[in-house]
Amino acid sequence: MKAIYLIGFMGSGKSSVLRLLAEKMALPGLDTDQQIEQTTGRTIPEIFKCQGEAIFREKETDTLMKMPKTDAVVATGGGIVESTMNRNWLKEHVFVVYLHTSLAEIDRRLGNDDSRPLWKKHEKTELYERRLEKYRQTADNLIETDGKSPEQVAEEIYQLI
Ligand code: S3P
Repeated sequence: MKAIYLIGFMGSGKSSVLRLLAEKMALPGLDTDQQIEQTTGRTIPEIFKCQGEAIFREKETDTLMKMPKTDAVVATGGGIVESTMNRNWLKEHVFVVYLHTSLAEIDRRLGNDDSRPLWKKHEKTELYERRLEKYRQTADNLIETDGKSPEQVAEEIYQLI
């Protein structure tokens, strides 16, 4: 079976849903950001600080290309859709679920989270709106997450598959 990839903005709940869904489906659960941290020995904020976003994006694409195409659940970083190469890879090889969350809800969930470099740096609304269409175009399915627990979202995805 095709691997299930979760995409969506920071704070859409990808990591929590990943854990629950992987367990429900008895499949390995992987996370592109965690893979990057393991292979580089650095945290994501450290990579952004010491090497910059462009290098982080290169590592993100390298990592994505090595992720499983079958029998796994994978959570991706919120910016995975920034690269055309990444979007094409996702569309071609795996089943993509977009966790859609409104910006107001994301604001409530993340507050002043300082573990996400782009949450501080960019104009949030601009970044959010620029990515919306890319998430939509890349996904096979969209799941609304506003007002739902990670358990409910994982169950919805499970029912869908
Ligand atoms: C990013 C989102 C983060 C992480 C990095 C960049 C982004 O992942 O990959 O800080 O560009 O939106 P999460 O979506 O898990 O927060």
